[in-house]
Amino acid sequence: MVEIAPSILSADFRRLGEQIATVERAGASYIHVDVMDGHFVPNLTVGPFVVEWVRKATKLPIDTHLMIENPENFIGAFARAGANMISVHPETTYHLDRTINQIRQAGCQAGVVLNPATPLAMIEEVVAEVDYVLLMSVNPGFSGQKFIPSSLDKLRRLRDLIRMKFSPARVEIDGGVGPDNAAEVVAAGAEILVAGSAVFGAENPAEALKDLRRAAESGGRVLA
Ligand code: DX5
Ligand code: ZN
Repeated sequence: MVEIAPSILSADFRRLGEQIATVERAGASYIHVDVMDGHFVPNLTVGPFVVEWVRKATKLPIDTHLMIENPENFIGAFARAGANMISVHPETTYHLDRTINQIRQAGCQAGVVLNPATPLAMIEEVVAEVDYVLLMSVNPGFSGQKFIPSSLDKLRRLRDLIRMKFSPARVEIDGGVGPDNAAEVVAAGAEILVAGSAVFGAENPAEALKDLRRAAESGGRVLA
């Protein structure tokens, strides 16, 4: 089954609770929260304080994507704020294995994230230890960017790595995903689709989410 994780980065923050309720009713599986520090990525967004409010707005698991240096310093705070899944980029932490364990000990699912230029080799030694791998199909920092086509080949190679290492990890894709390419990314092996502008940027986010799901599921049929 394909799961959709709308990213609140594209939501209207004047009515965040309402927007989250809309996508929850429309069948979203997770709420994706993009945390940026202005160092690792050229943008600043939200921290544990906003995650606390997201927690009050939904029963869905909160998928927290940390684009911050030294994420190990904030894992406890995000877990206490109500995050259920926490992912980190290998470039941001000296001891990736320790950071993954820390996420688990805080009671969250642990994920690792690969930038478009970051080779799969960066996660080879830990892929068996994580719950999910998040593949960036744009350079992180902003929503509304164009999907990088070589991500499809990387997705397929990521699936091979996961199989080779007997890893239980699920595969999530993030950046430029919409109804036009959802079938392709699912056929290439993505199981969770993050969607910012394709959902919250649309006139009708609930309809947009359903369109995206329909498109994604047609990719699943190609696989089967
Ligand atoms: C980008 C973020 C994404 C972003 C996706 O750094 O990680 O989650 O919100 O937005 P779209 O789907 O518009 O590319
Ligand atoms: Zn993200």
